[in-house]
Amino acid sequence: MMKTTNPIGIFDSGVGGTTIWRDVNELLPFENTIYLADNKNAPYGRKSVEEIIERSIINTEYLLQQNVKLIIVACNTATTNVIKVLREKYDIPFIGIEPAIKPVLLNTKTNHVGILATESTLKSEMYLNTSSRYNENIEIHAQAGNGLVQLIEQGKIDSEEMQFLLKDYLGKITKFPVDYLVLGCTHYPYLKNKIENIIGSNIKIVDSGKAVAKQTYHVLKQKSLLNENKTEIKFHDFYSNLNTDTLENLLSDVLVKNIELRSF
Ligand code: DGL
Repeated sequence: MMKTTNPIGIFDSGVGGTTIWRDVNELLPFENTIYLADNKNAPYGRKSVEEIIERSIINTEYLLQQNVKLIIVACNTATTNVIKVLREKYDIPFIGIEPAIKPVLLNTKTNHVGILATESTLKSEMYLNTSSRYNENIEIHAQAGNGLVQLIEQGKIDSEEMQFLLKDYLGKITKFPVDYLVLGCTHYPYLKNKIENIIGSNIKIVDSGKAVAKQTYHVLKQKSLLNENKTEIKFHDFYSNLNTDTLENLLSDVLVKNIELRSF
């Protein structure tokens, strides 16, 4: 029998999904959480679908051993390529994240929108289906952010290399009159200030973190799995299978947490 105090499990190829953890923790502050950063195998963005399935299954099994009550696939690349497989294989509820392309296609005024995501996300059937469904007369300028995830994983957010890649990728999008830019990778919200400095404040930057948190709330509520216990001390465990340095740095503002090296 699943208890409401059981943790929510979250996984990503690395530290990126902590941006989703933040949105979830803000909306659901009474939930215990276990986060897996599969840094050893990052990036997923240029792996084959078979490799992404294999890693997603390993992460899921590890989280199931920790008795999680729900799993958030905090990775656009894994969601768009393999969430169907996970839902078919396991009984536990899965919440996925996909690029927020639908709302921007419905709201654009200039009929040009940009998206920055990994190569595997942009090639996935799920992304191609969504982006072709609502885009009559709208041009989507999609750019793969090759190299960005690796730099974030290496703690090089403020490096010259990062600035160079961002200018190059964003320049290819902003030569068109886009009014929205979708961040289609959970690592990228950590680059939001840098991106804003390059593209200016007239282009709205959109990600899916808040939508994922709301969906998590709805599913837990519907399954009577919300943790209503406000008195017990919560735990937030973050496990990395390679190196905990970047997690430590990015989560330095989070007070209640435990960051460990684990093998999975
Ligand atoms: N954070 C990921 C995503 O949302 C994974 C990126 C990667 O490992 O390439 O797509």
